[in-house]
Amino acid sequence: MPHDPDLPPAKKFKPGSVFFRLEKNKPGMLLPRKGNVTTPIDVQRKQLPIYKARTRLVNELRPLHNAIVIGETGSGKTTQIPQYLFETGIGRQGLIAITQPRRVAAISLAARVSEEKRTQIGKLVGYTVRFEDVTSPETKLKFMTDGMLLREAIGDPMLLRYTVVVLDEAHERTVHTDVLFGVVKSAQCRRRELNKIPLKVIVMSATMDVDLFSEYFNKSPVLYLEGRQHPIQIYYTKQPQSDYLQAALVSVFQIHQEAPQSHDILVFMTGQEEIEALARTCRDIAKHLPDSCGPMVVIPLYASLPPAQQLRVFQPAPKGCRKVILATNIAETSVTISGIKFVIDTGMVKAKRFNPDSGLEVLAVQRVSKAQAWQRAGRAGREDAGFCYRLYTEKEFDNFTPMTVPEIQRCNLAGVMLQLMALGIPDVMNFDFMSKPSPEAVRSAVDHLELLGAVERKDGQVLLTTLGKRMASFPLEPRYAKTILLSPDFSCSEEILSIVSLLSVDTVLYNPPARRDEVLAARKKFTSSEGDHMTLLNIYRAFKKVGGNKEWCRENFVNSRNMGLVKDVQAQLREICLKLNLKLESCGADTGNVRRCLAHGMFINAAELQPDGSYLALDTHQAVAIHPSSVLFQAKPAYVVFNELLHTSRCYMRDLCLVDADWLLDAAPEYFGRKLHLTRS
Ligand code: CDP
Ligand code: MG
Repeated sequence: MPHDPDLPPAKKFKPGSVFFRLEKNKPGMLLPRKGNVTTPIDVQRKQLPIYKARTRLVNELRPLHNAIVIGETGSGKTTQIPQYLFETGIGRQGLIAITQPRRVAAISLAARVSEEKRTQIGKLVGYTVRFEDVTSPETKLKFMTDGMLLREAIGDPMLLRYTVVVLDEAHERTVHTDVLFGVVKSAQCRRRELNKIPLKVIVMSATMDVDLFSEYFNKSPVLYLEGRQHPIQIYYTKQPQSDYLQAALVSVFQIHQEAPQSHDILVFMTGQEEIEALARTCRDIAKHLPDSCGPMVVIPLYASLPPAQQLRVFQPAPKGCRKVILATNIAETSVTISGIKFVIDTGMVKAKRFNPDSGLEVLAVQRVSKAQAWQRAGRAGREDAGFCYRLYTEKEFDNFTPMTVPEIQRCNLAGVMLQLMALGIPDVMNFDFMSKPSPEAVRSAVDHLELLGAVERKDGQVLLTTLGKRMASFPLEPRYAKTILLSPDFSCSEEILSIVSLLSVDTVLYNPPARRDEVLAARKKFTSSEGDHMTLLNIYRAFKKVGGNKEWCRENFVNSRNMGLVKDVQAQLREICLKLNLKLESCGADTGNVRRCLAHGMFINAAELQPDGSYLALDTHQAVAIHPSSVLFQAKPAYVVFNELLHTSRCYMRDLCLVDADWLLDAAPEYFGRKLHLTRS
């Protein structure tokens, strides 16, 4: 492992030695908040910075059709503004929707607000996320993912059920938020033209750069919420770090031995695997420190963590024990954690990247933007003055892009295009996007949909086909929708529904690294030589056989909550299938049919083994490798289809299924004939 000469290897770490040289910089000023978990909930509400501005805020918002609200994370925007609107009778004639990019956030915020209102969740305050609807006719405040509001717009383009739409976390600029901007803007216009009840649109952001939002929404006014200010000292490294994980480790222990025990540390990292690995190393080292150093509790935080474990982050550490949280960018704005005094920013994030030439979307570890780096630093100063250690030089920081590029400009647009066309938007190329995707990306998405048979080109126009309309009925990526629609031809719709449902929830497998051998032994029973899809299917079948027994889940390292969710997802997908008159049947033991069906639905994501043992993605001819977590890692079959690509040190395929070359040729003879050397066996 290469490492910077400034940084000794972790094993040689000696308490008392200072080895991480940091350069001091002008402190940045950010706006934090104060919180106290032990005070009663209504007192807590009144302690939020936003409370003092309540009357003024409501008076400002009442007459406006569009407004942008800016306030530092934790100031109370999301939980309070919807309540203020409701309490003062704004938007009473309909529902108030509050959209969130993350499903975890939508659920936990709805729970929090219904608790503040002292009502049961699903009554006055509810939430709707994909595959889960906890609302009732009484619901007035509805937290939902932006994707869900978008789906509702397909049936109701003017969003007539709603009087207010709050587009929250707008700075994140997810694809769905960006498309929603256009959809609510057009709903607003059409309602005005048709003299319907007006739609109020409130855009909320945690970062200051909102000119674009304001411009887009007819120069709408911007309301700033002032919070308590605590200065944050920013430190940079002297030299660029070749290994940010090593640098993070060293910084954690430097702070641990120097700072008072009550000061907690938040480290921003990129994903589950490296977080779990660093957590293990930290725990190991902490065990061997002298008593003078005090105990440390290390807590991981990432989206696919079981919810009960996610909640651990919010619990205060035992007295005299330091809390070290290792988190993904989920801790940037979506959740607020108290007690953080130190932030360590690796400057890296895992995000989608798209190459329109190759049509390939990959998840890749990359640099954050300046805006993100400031947001991360801000987490250190919520309650008092704080410190942010940036594991990069000031010069490197100067070269970060100022803003995160909106996701719509760096992802595969096939799903979005399909949805826009299902919304009845005639000319998707000229849709009123706040930031337009490139023409190449749009063309590439249309190509993708054409390959799947969802659209056809006629006289220069792109039209949705009957198949495309049916595909849009599913809240799924186009290729999954297509696979389901194909499944009756292979008499395996039950199995395909199970597999797609399994892939639609955060992982159902629980892999605690400390018990790796036990996990491997337990998994063996289910491992299929046909690949990860079939292995998952085996696990799901076994789970159903024991009636979802919790003990069984524990013994087999299966996340029982997510498994429960799989059942719900499957039930909903089944309902959609019934509406579409699809024949639902099971192929029983003949799983070859399932793989055949996957090959037909996912042929765009196929790869071929090369003589030297590497793989080539057939679509793009890019070199790819099997991810070590796959059951096919050792087997190396000749042809596979895969679910996604993950770019770390190499480009890895994740979740693979063994297929025959013939099936791929049958699925898309013309396409493969054009593209490659694939020949019939
Ligand atoms: O939206 P913004 O970041 O401005 O703040 P918020 O989400 O409304 O949160 C305000 C405060 O409510 C937080 O600082 C927490 O103290 C509390 N809160 C909570 O305890 N549990 C939640 N799920 C959400 C918020
Ligand atoms: Mg918020």
